Amino acid sequence: MKIQSISLNNHSEQNRIEMVDFYNEATEDYEFWSNDYNMHFGYYIPFKTNPFKRDSMLNQMNTQVLKRLKIGLSKNRLIDLGCGMGGTMRHALKLYKNIIAYGVTLSDFQVKQGNNLLKGENGIIIKENYNNTSFKSNSFDSAVAIESFCHSGHSYNSLKEAYRILKPGGRLVIADAFLKKEKNKLCRGSKYSYKKLCNHWSLEKLETHTYIQKSLKEIGFKSITVEDVSFKVAPSVLHVPFAITGFILGKLLRFKSIKKESLHNLKGSFYALLAGLHMKNFGYYIISATKSNTYN
Ligand SMILES: C[S@@+](CC[C@H](N)C(=O)[O-])C[C@H]1O[C@@H](n2cnc3c(N)ncnc32)[C@H](O)[C@@H]1O
Repeated sequence: MKIQSISLNNHSEQNRIEMVDFYNEATEDYEFWSNDYNMHFGYYIPFKTNPFKRDSMLNQMNTQVLKRLKIGLSKNRLIDLGCGMGGTMRHALKLYKNIIAYGVTLSDFQVKQGNNLLKGENGIIIKENYNNTSFKSNSFDSAVAIESFCHSGHSYNSLKEAYRILKPGGRLVIADAFLKKEKNKLCRGSKYSYKKLCNHWSLEKLETHTYIQKSLKEIGFKSITVEDVSFKVAPSVLHVPFAITGFILGKLLRFKSIKKESLHNLKGSFYALLAGLHMKNFGYYIISATKSNTYN
């Protein structure tokens, strides 16, 4: 039992080191994916978002996640748990004048460049681990985690820490890909793309959405809603092959070499597309929950 837990910790630690290295080296490539440095997939609404304009869908994902926080008119302290370059924070600061936005990431590159993009705004990015932050308990009104908790394998600890730092009545909204069934029940093609995806994007593992729902409840969250938004996300996933081709051509035309981390990232995007095609096994979900009003 002890040996198993040591090797699990080693695996997590190794994954964390690789993930930080990956983001320090490959974050700048995301400019190709999104002018606003959104490091996530998008949300398509027929006749509202243009399916050919990637950034309009990526920013619509921000809007959808923020809408579910139910931000009122009073001052609102928002935290982005795994904030990347602060794309969601900047979008939130544009939409809501009453928020102060904090973001945490483990990548030094993202802290430096993300804070440059936030200059003059009511927001800051700090180098912190979202599984164990130094924030006081009950200090935030809102928390978001877009495609970030997957790096820690959708761990119970990430949800518990979000609960701790939220004020009673505070809201948590997670947008991410989840398994629709247990790992051992995945079909062969899904198992293959899942393994490759985790490896190339440094994801410790993915959990099922039912596990997240159960864990949130156990931790003390209430008003938990789980929405399968896979079909809304699909149009932006279909941009992947075009984005990859454009990125490589752009590099070749400027006689620039492609870093190994960038190649790793590109392959990861391809496996995300492959996994996305197995719709019975993988899905994209927005999960929202409220911290109960009693202090603990
Ligand atoms: C795919 S990016 C998403 C970034 C951002 N949420 C967005 O949508 O643009 C994943 C982010 O999670 C961060 N991350 C992963 N594990 C983390 C951890 N344990 N603590 C803090 N940040 C973490 C990475 O540094 C990266 O910024």
